[in-house]
Amino acid sequence: MVFVGHVDHGKSTIIGRLLADTESVPQERIDLVRQSCLHNAKPFEYAFLLDTLKDERSQGVTIDSARVFFKTALRDYIIIDAPGHGEFLKNMITGASRAEAAFLVIDAAEGIQENSRRHAYLLSMLGFSNIVVLINKMDIVNYSQTVFESVSAEYSTFLSQMKMTADFIPLSGIEGENLAKPPSKMPWYKGRTLLSTLDSIQKELPSLTRPFRMPVQDVYKFTEDGDTRRIIAGTIELGKISVGDSVTFYPSGNNCKIKTIESYNKPEQTTAIAHQAAAFTLDKPLFVSRGELMTRTDQQPPNVTTRMGATIFWMNKQPLVTGKNYTLKMGTARERIVIEKIEQVIDAETLSRKESKGNIEHHDIADCVLLTDRAVAFDCSHDESGAGRFVIMDGFEICGGGLVRTAMGDSQSAIRNYVFRRNSKWEQSDISLEDRAERYGQKPSLILITGPKNVDKKSIAKAVESDLFNAGRIVSFLGIANVLYGVDADIKRDGPDESKSEHIRRLGEVAHLMLSAGIILVVTATGLTQEDLALLRTTVGHDMTYVVWVGQRQTNIEPDLFASESAGINSIVIDDKTL
Ligand code: GTP
Ligand code: MG
Repeated sequence: MVFVGHVDHGKSTIIGRLLADTESVPQERIDLVRQSCLHNAKPFEYAFLLDTLKDERSQGVTIDSARVFFKTALRDYIIIDAPGHGEFLKNMITGASRAEAAFLVIDAAEGIQENSRRHAYLLSMLGFSNIVVLINKMDIVNYSQTVFESVSAEYSTFLSQMKMTADFIPLSGIEGENLAKPPSKMPWYKGRTLLSTLDSIQKELPSLTRPFRMPVQDVYKFTEDGDTRRIIAGTIELGKISVGDSVTFYPSGNNCKIKTIESYNKPEQTTAIAHQAAAFTLDKPLFVSRGELMTRTDQQPPNVTTRMGATIFWMNKQPLVTGKNYTLKMGTARERIVIEKIEQVIDAETLSRKESKGNIEHHDIADCVLLTDRAVAFDCSHDESGAGRFVIMDGFEICGGGLVRTAMGDSQSAIRNYVFRRNSKWEQSDISLEDRAERYGQKPSLILITGPKNVDKKSIAKAVESDLFNAGRIVSFLGIANVLYGVDADIKRDGPDESKSEHIRRLGEVAHLMLSAGIILVVTATGLTQEDLALLRTTVGHDMTYVVWVGQRQTNIEPDLFASESAGINSIVIDDKTL
């Protein structure tokens, strides 16, 4: 359960009082807090209970950061006391705590304030269509039915603009009116108390009929005692999976079958379901990495692209600007992004459209087009509950969050589909890429040496090849001509644009074959563009490609290394560790 609302409207007081009135906290503890307040000459606050309970686990209730664990006669609860929407959004979007019900607190005397509105908008973004609104501090307004009804009516109208509905409960956190017991001072109120409302909320069942989704959290490799298991671990978000099921990992599109579901100190398992932390072994030595989305091959695949239409809520004082690099965290994936375009900006308080100045300001919500560096796999927010949520970081700071509304095509869509097909048909060797890497003492890589036409790239490439060879690496040089006149003999060399991308695609395929054999391949090509690179990376694999631009910086690509031709071969130093 998450408690949100404008500052000082009484969230912590209500939670504290609820703990006291349900005898979740022993009376002595409350007395202690009262005494200490007296001693320090400050008025007692139920909210202090939450503070004093931090780090205590012996009582029936424990609190960590802003999470309160407590139980009623019926069941256990975790309440998130969201001090500001920043914290709340971070929690909700990163999935650290996925609230199943939301309570929004409004001060009866102060009425609806900016955050009462903003928080409702955030809740609607997160998929809540029904919430509970607690009209608090009824004692200040003499428990007036008229005040309760007028605040409720006004807020109802606001919610309806977002197609949201709510149940309204009048209460006084301080007086404990209508929390655990029916109110004595509001005889006109015939509805539920806060406590019975909590207990009446239906528990969400894990969605097993939805397509299986698990973001890969980690890949563990065992090496002891001849144990060669490689374990893929994560928390299942949706659906279910059984031993023997075919799975596909995205964005790579690699597939295989589930060999075992690993269980520690538990009876053997053959099926795992949503919300479970699970670990699997696969029937083939696939190369799987953290951040990939594990799906079932027989079910609806996710979207895979570098462009998406998203709604962003911006929490940073510094506005979000187009063209700047940020980091996107979605599932377990982390990618560099830029905002390509801001389509419209909405004021989260008034829900009115704002004039866009090419940036998104603090507390604004905007529909944008996001561009990721590498393709990511995801479901859109309307596809699956909880899907498509992300946070945006600037450096190490979370400064925005949002939802993906649509997957948009990018320049590699066609190639990507064909690579998925290739990978799904790929006959996997019993020797994994990692085993090869270990044996050869190198990571298979494609080193692309590119630059303007008149710059001598070949000498550099050959020197790199020789250096690596002399250092004991398994390496090969490939000039573009080696491909053009052989593998590409059937394509016109100065044909239309499509033929250029076909050349690049074939070069990528050749490189892919060589890299699968564990080789380091050094390739020269003139004037590669961002598009060409994207295409090559889609074909070969992103983490396996390194780009060196030699000569003047007249390019739209971001190479791993810029080298000036005049400085000579020695200026090109390739980090030995990456190879
Ligand atoms: P933040 O965490 O700062 O956002 O505030 P909050 O929403 O948690 O509010 P908190 O519970 O700290 O209460 C704010 C003030 O309102 C405190 O001084 C409380 O004593 C007071 N207050 C809370 N509930 C009631 C109530 O029902 N009646 C009256 N009269 N005062 C209340
Ligand atoms: Mg508080």
